[in-house]
Amino acid sequence: MEKYVINEKEEMEGVAEQQMRLWGRESFVIDTDKNLQSIDLQDFVIGNLSDEVVKIYQNIEKKLFVDYSYFQIEQDTPVNFKQSMKLARHRWFPYKEGFSPLFVKSFITRFTDNKNIKILDVFSGVGTTVLQAGLMGFGGVGFDVNPLSNFIAQTKSINLSELQQKEFVNLIDKFEKSDLKEIAEKPDNQTIISYFSEINMQWLLKLKHFYLQIEKPYQDLFKLVFLRSIEPLSTHRKDGNGVKRKTNINTIQNFISEKDFKDYIISFLKQLLIDIQNVFNKGNSNFYLQSSLDSKSFKNHTFNAVLTSPPYANCFDYSKVYLSELWLGDFFVDKSSQIEFRAKSVRSHVHATWEERFTDKGSKIVNELIYPHLKVQNLWSNKIPLMLSGYFKDIGQMLENIYPCLENNSPIGLVVGNSVYDGIPVATDLLICDIAEKIGYSVEKIEVYRKLSTSSQQTIKVQNKEYLRESLVVLRKIT
Ligand SMILES: C[S@@+](CC[C@H](N)C(=O)[O-])C[C@H]1O[C@@H](n2cnc3c(N)ncnc32)[C@H](O)[C@@H]1O
Repeated sequence: MEKYVINEKEEMEGVAEQQMRLWGRESFVIDTDKNLQSIDLQDFVIGNLSDEVVKIYQNIEKKLFVDYSYFQIEQDTPVNFKQSMKLARHRWFPYKEGFSPLFVKSFITRFTDNKNIKILDVFSGVGTTVLQAGLMGFGGVGFDVNPLSNFIAQTKSINLSELQQKEFVNLIDKFEKSDLKEIAEKPDNQTIISYFSEINMQWLLKLKHFYLQIEKPYQDLFKLVFLRSIEPLSTHRKDGNGVKRKTNINTIQNFISEKDFKDYIISFLKQLLIDIQNVFNKGNSNFYLQSSLDSKSFKNHTFNAVLTSPPYANCFDYSKVYLSELWLGDFFVDKSSQIEFRAKSVRSHVHATWEERFTDKGSKIVNELIYPHLKVQNLWSNKIPLMLSGYFKDIGQMLENIYPCLENNSPIGLVVGNSVYDGIPVATDLLICDIAEKIGYSVEKIEVYRKLSTSSQQTIKVQNKEYLRESLVVLRKIT
């Protein structure tokens, strides 16, 4: 059996940061008639838990269409934000966790009838699904509990009339001529202040003071440029589950003069202007700062397609990764902001203590096999077993909330990454199919996009590495 070795950091980060590898496998067999609900855990005698869990996965897989034909086709890889940085509007804010707009387009083309689409993204992030649908002329709604990504999604979707475009040009001009004498207040967070040189913090606060004096929607456009300048000006960069000091000082953006700083900001502002002038958002795009776990979010909505990606069960905490932007952009104003944000989010990390919720939901395989095993292991955090059990309860609740809002025959696409803890693969894609069928969805297929791999320091055997993958689960509501 081939050994897989994981280092501690990578184990903490689960699968999301792991690199893609060639892994030739063909599409395999399908027995779509059988129902996943027939699986009974009693049939599996516990020996080596990893083997037993894998037997269950294999049994689930036999009853599904697991399609490898999209494997590593760069064009269609769902999570490839590099592509977005070349596309109008999508390029306004780099967001590593974001979808590829081409993948969204391909999903809409392949799984819907491409007419009168109203698409829902229940974990909308920076809004790729809904914005791309809008650019194709379709309506959409996005929910997210992160005020930063909600703001970015809304701002990327706006249109400006010709008059407004002129006003935006005037404001860019005003910014260029401004003496930038006044500065906004520093955030009330010493850690954030320590991530910037005094001079770079001053530049940011001057820009902030400027945009706080102007009206919306122009204020939002300037604020977006402010937010995207934060990481380049910082001494720290995003890295895995947080930030790390930049080792290459050339990656810290410095300015030799005020003009130099203004030119840098104006180049981004002009990028926004060009995109607004050339690429109209033809759809009705709406983003709400609401939780997909709250059934009230869904009231009075109807959709005929869903494309989304929940946070992966890999211990990443978005509020840590985007902490500078959240504080400097006034989305967090005190410690309670972060606590509230974490409490509303899906249980995909261990940086919060959630009240037990949705106890009747979740995955039997996780709750009855994986959870009891992990609970007595020496993991880097003893909250991991509860997090995993909670993760699938939250996903179950979200799927149940969506169901009544969907028209018959709506496709539901969920991009998920599997993970591994203590050598036990957690096949989120298969476990979600199992949960979804119980709610009443029909499982159409799983498309596997890439292999997620791990490497070494602390030696942990990960057998059955084929389950370390990122895939698209396609469900359908058929009544
Ligand atoms: C993988 S990202 C989605 C990225 C998105 N596909 C894009 O292209 O930008 C997952 C998102 O789920 C959000 N999230 C976590 N818990 C949530 C909840 N309970 N309701 C809504 N969104 C939530 C996170 O804030 C994060 O933005």
